[in-house]
Amino acid sequence: MKNEKNNEITLFLNGSEQRFCVETDETLLHVLRKRAGLTGAKKGCDLGECGACTVILDGRAVNSCCVFAVQADGKHVETIEGIGTAEHPHPLQQAFVNAGAIQCGFCTPGMIMAAKALLDRNPRPSREEIRQALSGNLCRCTGYERIEQAVMMAVEIISGYAER
Ligand code: FES
Ligand code: FES
Repeated sequence: MKNEKNNEITLFLNGSEQRFCVETDETLLHVLRKRAGLTGAKKGCDLGECGACTVILDGRAVNSCCVFAVQADGKHVETIEGIGTAEHPHPLQQAFVNAGAIQCGFCTPGMIMAAKALLDRNPRPSREEIRQALSGNLCRCTGYERIEQAVMMAVEIISGYAER
């Protein structure tokens, strides 16, 4: 049975404090897409299995389809829309383009956010650590080779900035 009770929550969404009135059983993914108009996080399986809905919640990559919006109250949420623009892409976004890793495109925002959560806590991960961090992000098109290459490329770009 659907729970219609409304709850007011506050999210620090891509750095901006925003309030939403949500249902008790409403997911964070639903709030992002339908209330905040941020459609970068995708609804794939809606079961916590594909990673297409990945966002960063208080520094941790999460499947936003499996987080109730009320659980995110008072927390920082980072989505693909908050990390770069077409004019000023994040190094991960640029690297995904350069490596040809935007394959079907649908899964890309989730992969980039999972990779960003990794690089934020570990700026020089090994290939194995990259693989591990992306293990919840499924790709059924051409495979993971270019995706891993893109993350390695972003590591080089980011460490280049750090050495300047
Ligand atoms: S849509 Fe959330 S894990 Fe697939
Ligand atoms: S990147 Fe979407 S299925 Fe491979």
